Amino acid sequence: MTTQSTTSTPRTMRASVLVTPGNVEMQDVPVPALTSTQVLVKISAVGVCGSDTHFFHEGHIGDMIVKSPLILGHESAGSIVAVGVNVSTSRIGERVSIEPQKPCRICEYCKGGRYNLCPNIEFYAAPPIHGAFAEFAAIESDFAHPVPDHVSDEAAALMEPLSVAIATCRKAAIKPGSRALIAGAGPIGILVAQIAGIHGATDITVSDPAPHRREFALRTGATRTVDPRIEDVTSGPLFDVFVDASGAPPAIQSGIAAVKPGGRVVLVGMGADSVELPVSLIQNREIELTGIFRYTNTWSLAIDLVASGRVDLDALVTHRFGLEDVKTALLTGGDDPRAIKSVIVP
Ligand SMILES: NC(=O)c1ccc[n+]([C@@H]2O[C@H](COP(=O)([O-])OP(=O)(O)OC[C@H]3O[C@@H](n4cnc5c(N)ncnc54)[C@H](O)[C@@H]3O)[C@@H](O)[C@H]2O)c1
Ligand SMILES: [Zn+2]
Ligand SMILES: [Zn+2]
Repeated sequence: MTTQSTTSTPRTMRASVLVTPGNVEMQDVPVPALTSTQVLVKISAVGVCGSDTHFFHEGHIGDMIVKSPLILGHESAGSIVAVGVNVSTSRIGERVSIEPQKPCRICEYCKGGRYNLCPNIEFYAAPPIHGAFAEFAAIESDFAHPVPDHVSDEAAALMEPLSVAIATCRKAAIKPGSRALIAGAGPIGILVAQIAGIHGATDITVSDPAPHRREFALRTGATRTVDPRIEDVTSGPLFDVFVDASGAPPAIQSGIAAVKPGGRVVLVGMGADSVELPVSLIQNREIELTGIFRYTNTWSLAIDLVASGRVDLDALVTHRFGLEDVKTALLTGGDDPRAIKSVIVP
């Protein structure tokens, strides 16, 4: 016996499968088999992310290529319904937020505490690993993080983008009194703005060409917003920190030029693979520039911030869809100007 459960779990489940670019269909697929250290989660909510949309339209992100049918979705939560033989059955019934990665635990990066950089990592919805647009998903027991009862299923799912924001602000070294410029008021930029405020930033300037997104940012954490088509972010006082959460090359270039000597730049947004950089400016100002690749050790803080009311993830959810409507959900972000975050409720 490799799996323990108090009720019988079905052998097959409904899943939304990306078959070819632009084509997702409902299929009956096997329920994931558990290893001895995993738990099986009955999925209650899954956020739709830009990377899901990108895989849906293009079939690849950089060198990650969808070569066989793939279940998308990596911002997920649910309840544990079965556990592997080495996991306590007392976990059955727990509501959990899924940290959607499985590092090898033995390479130099895992041992050094930077398991996001593990070359052997298996990440939900990064081909060929299946994600959570399905009735069930399997995850390592210690990556199924318990959430308090008063945290909603949707908020539990959105601990994932919140984790990106936490990892970003840690790297940006934002501290009390910092002046931060954030490009992009999508879910990531908005959450970076909120976490920057929790770190003590006093000027949190968010730029986005979309008026409804600027308005949302201003209501939820930004102290000031900028329309990058009209205002030049380099014209006023310079910033301690610039975070790009847009992936737009002009935003990256003007953002770097808006950072003061000794300041930091953190590139989170994924857009063009290469961007021309103002090298002499980076040298003359000794600007520290780095990227972000997902997160490590963020979930307990994310859950505490949401459970204590410091961060409101429910406010981000603008659209909800059933599992059979994943395609509509993947298309809605681009179509509806009011959309911030769509959630699939299987
Ligand atoms: N590095 C990582 O580990 C990681 C993890 C998650 C997401 N991401 C990336 O972070 C980015 C943000 O994610 P999201 O879900 O918020 O995406 P999103 O597409 O909802 O938001 C991006 C925002 O950038 C704005 N934008 C476009 N051009 C701009 C410009 N010139 N100046 C300022 N803003 C501009 C858009 O209007 C949009 O509101 C995406 O590129 C995503 O792929 C990276
Ligand atoms: Zn995501
Ligand atoms: Zn590893």
